Amino acid sequence: MRALLACLVLAATPVLAAPDPHSYANSDALRMRHAHIDLAVDFESRTLHGFVDLHLDRRDPAARELVLDTRALTIESVHAVHADGRYAPARFVLGNEDRILGRALRITLPADSERVRVHYRSSPQASGLQWLPPELTAGKRHPFLFTQSQAIHARSWVPLQDSPAVRFTWTARITTPKGLLARMAANNHPHDAADGDYRFEMRQPVPSYLLALAVGELKFAPLGDRSGVYAEPELLEAAAHEFADTERMIEIAESLYGRYRWGRYDLLVLPASFPFGGMENPCLTFLTPTVIAGDRSLVELIAHELAHSWSGNLVTNRDWNHFWLNEGFTTYVENRIAEAAFGVERADMGRQLAERDLVEELPTLAPALRRLRLDLAGGDPDEGMTEVAYTKGMLFLRLLELRFGRETFDPFVRKWFDEHAFGAVDTDDFLAFLRSELLERHPGKVSGEEIAAFIEGEDLPAFAPRTHASRFAAIDALRTEWLAGRRDLGALDTGAWATQERIHFIEGLPAETTAAQLATLDAQLALSRSGNSEIAFAWYLRAIALDYRPAFAPMDEFLQRIGRRKFVLPLYTALMRAHADFARASYAKSRPNYHPITRASIDELM
Ligand code: BES
Ligand code: ZN
Repeated sequence: MRALLACLVLAATPVLAAPDPHSYANSDALRMRHAHIDLAVDFESRTLHGFVDLHLDRRDPAARELVLDTRALTIESVHAVHADGRYAPARFVLGNEDRILGRALRITLPADSERVRVHYRSSPQASGLQWLPPELTAGKRHPFLFTQSQAIHARSWVPLQDSPAVRFTWTARITTPKGLLARMAANNHPHDAADGDYRFEMRQPVPSYLLALAVGELKFAPLGDRSGVYAEPELLEAAAHEFADTERMIEIAESLYGRYRWGRYDLLVLPASFPFGGMENPCLTFLTPTVIAGDRSLVELIAHELAHSWSGNLVTNRDWNHFWLNEGFTTYVENRIAEAAFGVERADMGRQLAERDLVEELPTLAPALRRLRLDLAGGDPDEGMTEVAYTKGMLFLRLLELRFGRETFDPFVRKWFDEHAFGAVDTDDFLAFLRSELLERHPGKVSGEEIAAFIEGEDLPAFAPRTHASRFAAIDALRTEWLAGRRDLGALDTGAWATQERIHFIEGLPAETTAAQLATLDAQLALSRSGNSEIAFAWYLRAIALDYRPAFAPMDEFLQRIGRRKFVLPLYTALMRAHADFARASYAKSRPNYHPITRASIDELM
């Protein structure tokens, strides 16, 4: 069986790429190649209002219908632009609403037209937009708007072909109230005046999930010649200090994988309700403010989003079934950047924590979600956002690195990026490339069975490379001695422990840890009030499991303040098991502060 799988996995003839299960678009017949977006940002009505021009490639000369993706958009009019430049009203219909996919917009297109203009308005409930009142910003003076298009939310603010296989260049004009700055995932001019009228241009073809816009009271601080950070004035100095390593990380990534091809690399710090840690919007990574710990200890997240400039943004998963090609590669590259920037020990600790998360998550997942190659048809693509894509994907690449050696593997990865730059890829493309570039040239290093076990298998293979960070072994020994009463915590130099060592200490606290021991630990390391979001999160999660009540009030406050899904979803999940009343009361307060994406996942849980 295994051997048969191995043959299938490595089959030489690639089958025709299946259509994207998460898009209605008929991009095989008519494909967007350029978009111009013209939108007014209205905070009063919480809508974007304006039009988009779509320039099309006609791949099928007989095609007379253009199909676009939309969700909760009001379509006001559609015009087709004829060969002579004339705009004529075009017939259109909106299909039935699908809970996950939204509605298809079907436009009748004359034979001599390769351009349409759609006038529309977004809904205040658009899944890809969060409209924040001033109270939910750091400065509390001005409202804030940001988009989150991945995976299939771009369609809730622009009608388009919302599939990662479709790349297009774009330009935009955005108008906002005066005094607010608009930034998009394009080469922003750091010194634009906040006059309420902004223009943007993305000259590299990008997929729709990388369209992004943020509007708020934003100020800029440079980090290097081609990098800088945007944040609300209250956070700007802390952000610039935290992200001082950015330029160095870009240089490291370039030395490994080739030139950074996107011009500027800026960061934009969002309000705390941002549902993710980071989002790799081209030229302009969006970040949670919870990454600002004060000691630069969480900046692997910057390495991660930066790495997407190669894996994901340059070489993109064809559809969300191949998400591991985006995130597994990125997690691998992130770890290589971390190693070169901060040393092997820190990189090892980060990897080991990720491996632990994977091993914990695997048994909770449906078998179909435990494979690298997914089959998400009929489901929500966000279901694929698990440790499997990130960490199992990374470990597969690390296995190859260890078997072939970096002198062979690094140029292989670089060639993968170069040869597929600005393209869309799937798992079979990678396997074919792996076979011709590595397996056939260096036979006997990895077997087909081993590859199949990673790609199609539901477990983490026993031969997967595992990390044993030396500093974690020391932490384990200290924890054991302290718990047995043989060592006094006060006598240890806990002040010198790195963030990852603290997290490892916390995660390893056994069920028998006493309330008195937890209180001592809490007092010595100030865990319940930690300003480091990752430490606080690890502590609260353990506090729930060990029923340590003094942490509950600060946890409640954390849940009100921070909307990052990676933190709030596991905390509410754990609370619902033993403290459902507390969870419900807490969520009643925090829900208004959360992003629609976060609300949707926690509503389901409750
Ligand atoms: N692209 C992802 C975020 C994402 C994935 C948004 C799927 C929507 C759907 C981003 O690069 C990411 O992976 N962020 C992580 C950070 C990381 C260090 C693991 C996050 O948000 O936690
Ligand atoms: Zn990522």
